[in-house]
Order: sequence, then C-alpha cells, then structure tokens
Amino acid sequence: MTDPRLPLDGLRFAFHTFGCQMNENDSERLAGYLAAAGAAPAGLIESADVVVVNTCSVRAKSEEKLYSLLGRLRTLKKRRPLLFGVVGCVAQLRKDMLPGLKSGVDFVVGFDQYPRIAEIIAESRGRKMIAASRSRGWKEGTVPPIRESAVSGFVTIMEGCDNFCAYCVVPFTRGREKFRPVEAVLAEVRDLAAHGFREIQLLGQNVNNYADSASGTDFADLLGRIAAVPGPEWIRFITSHPKNFTPSLARAMAATPKVCRQFHLPIQSGSSRVLERMKRGYSREDYLETVRTLRSLMPEIRLSADIIVGYPGETTEEFGETLSALAEIKFANIFSFCYSPRPLTAAARIADDVSTEVKRSRLMEVQALQKEIQTTFHKTMIGRTERVLCTGRSKKDPAVFAGRSEGNQVVNFRADRDVVGRFVDVEILSVGPYSLRGRAVSLYNK
Ligand code: SAH
Ligand code: SF4
Ligand code: F3S
Repeated sequence: MTDPRLPLDGLRFAFHTFGCQMNENDSERLAGYLAAAGAAPAGLIESADVVVVNTCSVRAKSEEKLYSLLGRLRTLKKRRPLLFGVVGCVAQLRKDMLPGLKSGVDFVVGFDQYPRIAEIIAESRGRKMIAASRSRGWKEGTVPPIRESAVSGFVTIMEGCDNFCAYCVVPFTRGREKFRPVEAVLAEVRDLAAHGFREIQLLGQNVNNYADSASGTDFADLLGRIAAVPGPEWIRFITSHPKNFTPSLARAMAATPKVCRQFHLPIQSGSSRVLERMKRGYSREDYLETVRTLRSLMPEIRLSADIIVGYPGETTEEFGETLSALAEIKFANIFSFCYSPRPLTAAARIADDVSTEVKRSRLMEVQALQKEIQTTFHKTMIGRTERVLCTGRSKKDPAVFAGRSEGNQVVNFRADRDVVGRFVDVEILSVGPYSLRGRAVSLYNK
C-alpha cells in the first residue's frame, strides 16, 4: 500500500555498495530509511527510480569504480527518469567536487545525514543536494535496517579511527572514533536473536579499542555481554588493530566459546622499519608475540591479515621481511594490496617511489606464496569434519550449499535437504587454495 504523505511514496530504489562490511551495513540501514519513507526495493539498478551508490575511497582503484558506475548511470538517465546519488567515503571526501563533474549526480549524502537521506532525495528532484558535514559523537539510527542476510547479522559497535596510519584516508572520511553505547549494541543483538540470526558480526574500524565510558565497558566486556544473549551461536568481529591488542582480550576470547576461533589482524608489512614509517605503532616482533599469545590460548585459531606492498621507500630487503612473516605466521587468508597514495594522508606528501611494475610483481609474489600456504593447509583438512554455518546456495550451482567454517573458510557442500541458515557438520572431501568442498554429515541444531 502506498501513502502519498510519504516523501518517496511509490518509488523503487536500488543500492550499489563498494568497500567494506561497514558500508554493507550502512546500505542496509539506508535501505531502512528509504523504505520508511515509502520507497520499495527494486532489486536491480535497471528497474530502480532511485539509485544510491555507497562508495569506498581507500585506494585510487576503489574510487575509480565509482566514476565508471556514474558513467553507466548517466547513460541510463538519458533514456528514462532516474535519480542517483553518492553516499559513503567518497561522498565524504569529494563532497564539493562530485556534483561539479558533469556527473549527473542528484544528491551527495555524508554519514551524519544518513537518517535524513529520504528527505534529501525528495528535495533533490530538480536540484542538486549536498549534505556531508561531520560531527562528533555516536548517533543512534531510528529505523530498522533491511538486511541482506537472515542468517548472519552485522552490528556496528564503533565508527571512525584516531590512528592516522600514514597511508590511510579512513580517519578523514569516517572521522574520529565514535563508540556506540553498550545498551544500543545489546538491543540490536537481542533483536537479531529474536529473528533467528545464527551469527553476529561486530563491525568497526578499530573494534578492540571499544570503550563505552558511561558504563566502563571495554571490548572484552562487550564480547561477554553479547555472548550472554541467548540465540546466536557464533560471534565474529572486524577489524582489530595490533597496537590495541591485549592478552586480556585473548583470554576473554578463549573463555567465550561463542567467539569464533578466527582473528583478522592486519599486519600490513613484516618489516619493523616499514611499520614505523606507516606509523602503525607496533614492530614485527610485537606482532609475532601477539600471534604466539593467541595460539597458546587457542591452538586452533585461524588468523588473517591485510598486506600492503610497495609502500614508499620499501626496499627489496624490507619486502623480503613481509614474505618471511607470511611464511612464519601462515595466515589462513590475506587481503593484499599495492600501495596507493590517498589525499590528505601523511604518506601522500612523500614520493610514491616504488614503480608500478615493482609493486605488481611484489603483489604477485605475496599472493603466490600465500596460495601455496593455503593449499598446503587445506590439504591437511581433507577427511576432517568442520562445523559450517550455511549462509546460502552456491552462485554457480544451486544444488550446492555455501557457508563458512568457524575459521572463516568458504565451504561448498552437498546436502540432501535445504540447510540454509543451519549449522551443518561437513566432511571435507576436496580442497582448493581459496575454498573447501564436502558433504553434509549431520545437522548440528534445530
Ligand atoms: N580498519 C579499516 C581498514 C580498512 S582499509 C577497516 O577495517 O575499516 C582495509 C585495508 O586496506 C587496510 O588494512 C590496508 O591494508 C589497505 N589500505 C588502506 N589504505 C591503503 C592505501 N593507501 N593503499 C593501499 N592499501 C591500503
Ligand atoms: Fe572503504 Fe575504508 Fe571507507 Fe570502508 S571505511 S568504505 S574500506 S574507505
Ligand atoms: Fe586506517 Fe590505520 Fe585506522 S588502516 S582505519 S588509520 S587503523
């Protein structure tokens, strides 16, 4: 039923989301605001009246993806009525430039204006709207999100970053650290539990720095409070900073069985000198010590990390230390990137002196080594049974189910009935470097 008093009554909307899980969660919340204003999901961009592009500016390439999508949207707009706009990190970073690029962009909405997105879109009909100022302090949302998954729910617990790693634009887009009050976090977790969600994924740029000063709750306490909510069996969180890691957090994880034995801890480089130039606040040794602590308390823990190659001044020897760190730590998974200078950052003021060719060849070397490490490890899993949370069906073959193991590995498997949203024990039959394949042997819960 439509209601003509609502600002977006009868319109159909679609999102295109680039970037991190926080952007995905933001799009879910923004969809909630659009729906509350009378709009309905269109599914595809091609059938939408309003398209919202949620953007990432972490590397030049992430930003370029926006500009090519805007080109496609402009073409679409020549053929039929269409409103489109930009939200997220590029909106925040380029707020004044975006509409001026002959971009056809109708609205640019920054993080603080998200609760007003529907009004801004409604007012933008016929004129361009820009609203991208930033303020301090946490602002609680007012409408429920429209979630992509009914199995695994994102819960943002903090936003922003005060670390100012020399290469990183995030503190200039997401702003300073803002912590969500513990009661608001718990209310969302309880709501997910009431709707049958099996897994909670806590989000923040720097989750292990979480502090609710009013109640004196830190991240370890928060994990305990969330684990006490009956229902969801698995809890994960991203991203943690090695500098803010404490042995007491590792002990809290070890003492809380619902916290998955998985930890994403971006190392960035294996060279203490590079880490120093990146202003990361820890050395290679500090990081290795953290790994030892985690593994001594939780021997089965699977670690993952982000890696940057070709940081300004990175010598062959320094790069070699990244390779040796990978060989020593044996991450379950890594995300690796060529360094990309970003506006406003400290590193952008120094020469980007590692050539594109050298960056690319270092990236290939990192990825080849990691592929070997993963293949070797995965082979040891053949014949083992892994508990898997089934999140959906495989895109390639709907007869195959897809999910993740507790260690966050992708598992594709066959089952004799629909197991989406269930925990399944899967016998691993064959493996590749990036996923495991098997068959369901038993259902673990109702
Ligand atoms: N803590 C943030 C990090 C997001 S950026 C979050 O979780 O939201 C993810 C990764 O991108 C970083 O860990 C880093 O490895 C990489 N990255 C950030 N800035 C970069 C740059 N200028 N060039 C290349 N990679 C970068
Ligand atoms: Fe991209 Fe970082 Fe912004 Fe996420 S927080 S959208 S990764 S720039
Ligand atoms: Fe970026 Fe470093 Fe913060 S990578 S998000 S400035 S911890």
